[in-house]
Amino acid sequence: MADLSGNYEIRRFDAVSKGKDGYAEAETWSRAVSFGFHESTRTPEHVAKTLETYEADRRVLTGAYQTGPVAPSSLPADVPVATFGTMRNTLNVGFGHLVEAHLVTAVTVRTSHRRRGLLRRMMSEDLQLAKDDGVAVAALTASEGTIYGRFGYGVASFERNIKVDTTARFSLPHQPAGTVEVADPKALLQLAPEVFDRVHRLTPGSVGRQDWYRQLASGSLGRDGKEDPAIKVALHYGPAGTVDGYVSYKFLGWDTEPYTVEVVDLLAGTNDAYLELWQFLGAIDLVERVSWTEAPLDDPLAWALDDPRCIDSSDSRDMLWLRILDVPKALAGRHYPAGGRLALKVLDPLGLTAGTYALSVDGGQAAVERLPETAEADLTLDVSALSSMYVGGVSPVTLAAAGKVREHTAGSALKARQMFAVERATHCLTHF
Ligand SMILES: CC(C)(COP(=O)(O)OP(=O)(O)OC[C@H]1O[C@@H](n2cnc3c(N)ncnc32)[C@H](O)[C@@H]1OP(=O)(O)O)[C@@H](O)C(=O)NCCC(=O)NCCS
Repeated sequence: MADLSGNYEIRRFDAVSKGKDGYAEAETWSRAVSFGFHESTRTPEHVAKTLETYEADRRVLTGAYQTGPVAPSSLPADVPVATFGTMRNTLNVGFGHLVEAHLVTAVTVRTSHRRRGLLRRMMSEDLQLAKDDGVAVAALTASEGTIYGRFGYGVASFERNIKVDTTARFSLPHQPAGTVEVADPKALLQLAPEVFDRVHRLTPGSVGRQDWYRQLASGSLGRDGKEDPAIKVALHYGPAGTVDGYVSYKFLGWDTEPYTVEVVDLLAGTNDAYLELWQFLGAIDLVERVSWTEAPLDDPLAWALDDPRCIDSSDSRDMLWLRILDVPKALAGRHYPAGGRLALKVLDPLGLTAGTYALSVDGGQAAVERLPETAEADLTLDVSALSSMYVGGVSPVTLAAAGKVREHTAGSALKARQMFAVERATHCLTHF
């Protein structure tokens, strides 16, 4: 394919809210993103609210702009033909360890400019910049599964849809340790980030949330840019009276049968909070089903219910994708539940991390050393596979069976599985 990427200029600028310098450029950029994701044109008010949350997230907006003449009557040159957004937040890499992650979002290329290398150019430049900036890992969520492996990203967490039958069949025997009370949804504007912080520290694979989440959960700013009056909220209080979980939900109306409540956001900072919020959901009168589109695959709910078949699950899918940018820094940022030494030969399609590394773990702490090219490795793997196993969402043994990890020393995939294990199921409740 001809490389036409020289006909474009790449510009990077900060997201700013209305009234500030640079708003017009950010607004035009944001409209290009909506176009790329086939959304209706957003109202100026919706764009303004969106950019306010982007500013709070400290997003950096990247656009590719045409440098040559623009076809008459077509979109003008100040509308980017490609968009790419980034922000920084923390990633839980297991055992409560948080590392800084470079989050990639809003990747679009206008149809008439696609397959000319624009994504490749923006991604390659951006990952290099993030690495130069000292960030050890990049992350994204993907619209399609075939796009990002070529850039070294690997699937690191999964999610699924569930529909839970909450008729008389629903029985969740658990002695409550706390209580659940219905609250004014707006209480979540303040409480949601506090509860999320607990969940974030508890859950491997969790990514720090953007500002919009508290607005979504509280019904203040729905996906359509408006208040959502249908949102209802219940809070979970732990034994000491502290809010340590919540569910934000809405009833889908009397025309939807079976009568259904849809979970908008469910956060539980303790095991008890999770079970007790489900007891609450299962007890809502006149409702026969509770649906949730962000449920974990490895779900305690299935084991807590008397009848696990109350859960009808579908559409298990990849959620978080990770891309290690600096192997020694990323691996040293983790805690390891098993000691040992592994020599890992890492292949990298973008050349950012290629090399052989010795990972030596003693007392949970890792020392990572770069070995000479000629050094013998226990495992050879692409950086995408290493990124997949990094937060414990996928077993190296499974990756070996899939041909994504090559084992040179017998038993080393199992050893990697033990070393890279995390303390509880990997799950990410942050879409970005
Ligand atoms: C996905 C998208 C951003 C690709 O942009 P693009 O500029 O056409 O991509 P490039 O020309 O840089 O292609 C880079 C590589 O990815 C491949 N690729 C691009 N899009 C792909 C897709 N949807 N599926 C599989 N491969 C894809 C190209 O074949 C090319 O491969 P190669 O360099 O190994 O030969 C663009 O098609 C798009 O905007 N899609 C709609 C919005 C979307 O899905 N965004 C992703 C959000 S997560």
